[in-house]
Amino acid sequence: MKRKPFIAGNWKMHNTIAESTALAAAIAKSKENKNQADILVAPSYTSLASVAQTVKGTKILVAAQDVHFEEKGAFTSAVSPSQIKDAGATHVIIGHSERRSLFGDTDGILNKKLAAAFKHNLVPVFCVGETLAEREAGKTLSVIESQLGNGLAGFTAEQLKTLIIAYEPVWAIGTGKTATPQQAQEVHASIRKYMEKYGKDFAAKIIILYGGSVKTDNADAIMAEPDVDGALVGGQSLVAEQFIRIINFNANK
Ligand code: 13P
Repeated sequence: MKRKPFIAGNWKMHNTIAESTALAAAIAKSKENKNQADILVAPSYTSLASVAQTVKGTKILVAAQDVHFEEKGAFTSAVSPSQIKDAGATHVIIGHSERRSLFGDTDGILNKKLAAAFKHNLVPVFCVGETLAEREAGKTLSVIESQLGNGLAGFTAEQLKTLIIAYEPVWAIGTGKTATPQQAQEVHASIRKYMEKYGKDFAAKIIILYGGSVKTDNADAIMAEPDVDGALVGGQSLVAEQFIRIINFNANK
C-alpha cells in the first residue's frame, strides 16, 4: 500500500506573529517537494490566523497545537474547535506528550478532544508514546496500545477515517536522542497492526508519523522504514531550510 508522505512541523511555544508568517512564507515559497508530501505547520494560537492567511492558496496545511472539547462558555484561556477553524486550521494536534505531562491531558480528556475534532471536521494528529522508564521496563507496546485504546474509545472506523497518528517516544522529544529507524519501525508496525481492529484496509491506509528529534541528518533513514509515513518535527521545523530538507527526504521507498 502506497501512502502519501506527510511532514508536519510543530512550532510549540515559539515565534511572534511576524516570525511565524515569515517562516510560513519561506516554506510556502519553496516549490521543492520531490516526495509529493503533504505539509502541515502548527503555529501557536496567536499566529494561527496570520499563518493560515499567509499560506492560503498554497498546498500547506495548518493545524492548531491543541483544542478544547467544549463548544463555548466559561473556560478561561481555552480555545474551541470552531475558533481554531475560524482562524484557518484544518488539522489539530491532540495528545502531544507535553500536553499529557505538563498540562494534565488524560486519555479521557483526549478522547473528548478527539470527539470534538471529528464533530467539527478537523483532522486530528493524535500523539502517543512511551517514557524512557516505560521503554526500559519493556512496556512500550502495552503503553501505546492503552493510549490508543482509551483515546480512540467509542469511535467507529467511519469516524476515524481522517485520523493521523503520531508516534512520539517521550525520551526522544527535544533531547537529540532519536529512536533508531528499527525502533520506530517496530512501534509503527505494531500501531498499524492494532488499527486492524477497524479493518485491514483501514490499517493499511492510516498515516503514522514519527516524532522525536527528527533532523536533516536522520530523516532519510527514518522515512525509509516501511511503516513510517511521515514526521512530526519540533526544533528543526523552526528553520525553513531544515524543514524543507526534511520535506525533501531521500528515502527511496
Ligand atoms: P523535537 O523534534 O524538537 O524533538 O520535537 C518533537 C515533537 O515533539 C514534535 O511534536
